Amino acid sequence: METTLCGVTLPNPVMPASGTFGFGYEMARFYDLNQLGAISLKGTTREARFGNPTPRIAECREGLLNAIGLQNPGVARVIAEEIPKLRAVYGGVVLANISGFSLEEYVETARAFDACDDVQLLEINVSCPNVKHGGMAFGTCPEAAAEVTAAVKKAVRKPVILKLSPNVTDIVAIAKACESAGADGLCLINTMLGMVIDPRTGRPIVSTKT
Ligand SMILES: Cc1cc2nc3c(=O)[nH]c(=O)nc-3n(C[C@H](O)[C@H](O)[C@H](O)COP(=O)(O)O)c2cc1C
Repeated sequence: METTLCGVTLPNPVMPASGTFGFGYEMARFYDLNQLGAISLKGTTREARFGNPTPRIAECREGLLNAIGLQNPGVARVIAEEIPKLRAVYGGVVLANISGFSLEEYVETARAFDACDDVQLLEINVSCPNVKHGGMAFGTCPEAAAEVTAAVKKAVRKPVILKLSPNVTDIVAIAKACESAGADGLCLINTMLGMVIDPRTGRPIVSTKT
């Protein structure tokens, strides 16, 4: 089952999606994480973020809606505290998932992970629908997505994957713009927009309506 992802060898292609697996080590009590092909970290921003008010998830017939709002302790603490906890239980490939609210923020956060030997791949999330004025603004327009791609590529040595949103008119144009700007890979897709109404209250269940 061995495969490669942007030049990095993985023992197999199984990798939990960012945000569904914490920083990985939280799951170590359930099974040996070293069976995985790679681990994608919870989305990280330059500064710490508290995330959205609860409730942040709602089950529905089709699966699960989420609006977490990029809760994370900020890149410095992810590198200093979370990654060492993961490394205590896992020796495989780690992919850092990066979000931002400006070009500078994407670049600075990507640079910090680029300098961290425990991270092999960088995933740039230009597709989070769950924060106001967030990364999604970069991922709905080909020019802006290309701008982030080029700026991050110029700043780092590690492979850069662009994570795109399904909530756009033409994902192909955005994918091609990222490719032309130097993306090493694409990750499809981020969270779908949706709403679950609680029939008892007539109100949406998830607090942040996306
Ligand atoms: C609870 C939750 C948190 C998530 N957090 C992130 C995140 O921090 N960064 C990111 O790029 N995607 C995040 N996602 C999106 C997933 O990584 C994935 O792209 C999305 O769920 C679509 O895949 P699926 O259809 O297999 O669920 C999150 C998804 C869920 C359900």
